[in-house]
Amino acid sequence: MEFQDRDITSIEDFTRQEIAYILNKAKTMEPLAAKGSDILKGKILANIFFEPSTRTRLSFESAMLKLGGNNIGFADVESASVKKGENLADTIRTVENYADIIALRHPLEGAAKLAAEFAKIPVINAGSGAEEHPTQALVDLYTIQKERQKIDGLKVAVVGDLRYGRTVHSLAYALSLYDVELTLVSPETLRMRREVLRAIQSKISVTETQNLEKTIPQADVLYVTRIQKERFPDQAEYAKVKGTYRIDLKSLANAKKDLVILHPLPRVDEISAEVDSTPQARYFQQVWNGIVVRMALLGLLLGAVK
Ligand code: NCD
Repeated sequence: MEFQDRDITSIEDFTRQEIAYILNKAKTMEPLAAKGSDILKGKILANIFFEPSTRTRLSFESAMLKLGGNNIGFADVESASVKKGENLADTIRTVENYADIIALRHPLEGAAKLAAEFAKIPVINAGSGAEEHPTQALVDLYTIQKERQKIDGLKVAVVGDLRYGRTVHSLAYALSLYDVELTLVSPETLRMRREVLRAIQSKISVTETQNLEKTIPQADVLYVTRIQKERFPDQAEYAKVKGTYRIDLKSLANAKKDLVILHPLPRVDEISAEVDSTPQARYFQQVWNGIVVRMALLGLLLGAVK
């Protein structure tokens, strides 16, 4: 299986066999994440973030440092030359001179694909508008597999903003490669993007509902997401759906004991803090998994992990 020099613009870039390979490599990174390594010594990752980020950017940076590599980049558009009117293609053709690989987050859909076309070095999509967030989907799959020792056969419920949330688009494509029953829970106006639905419906069982209460008792995995306030063209529309779903101890009363609750984070009010101390809450373990999955990806794309 060949990963060296590839781009990751969409989760659809990968077959199920390739995803399994990446998840296995991520597992082998667990001890290296704990004690460090120098397999990427001399390599530089450019983190170019045109949108806010805490986990994605810091986990890419941490992954690179734990493998002995270095980071450069910017997280604040105000301090970069885009502020002077530079376009993305020129930014990429500049940055590729300074680094061996690029992680790009951008508010526009298609940004990662465009960057990958211009760059001579690998480009990883760290979030492209409301479109996709492929490395998060790999983190999500890794977490499910780690918690439940399998992905096939599970009932997965995805809750929240399925229209503007990019993580759920990548996750839905990824889950369609497995034998899962997927329930999509959202307000009517935030239903899963049609193009994603069309792509996955022929492969797996998909149910759309607005009823979270009826969904929770059936679920093995509950993937909760934030309503993406900043992506609403009309804030009056946001006001109508704000706070639609809130997971608290009461809503989990009939949940399975071994339910796995995930969230890509940041959380606003969709999971109440009282849930954090339940055994089902796994979203902070999911954060740790973000490091080992990104270590595996960096190692594979840079040819240091085979
Ligand atoms: C998400 C994102 O940026 O898409 N966060 C993440 O990368 N883990 C989710 C969100 O912003 O709600």
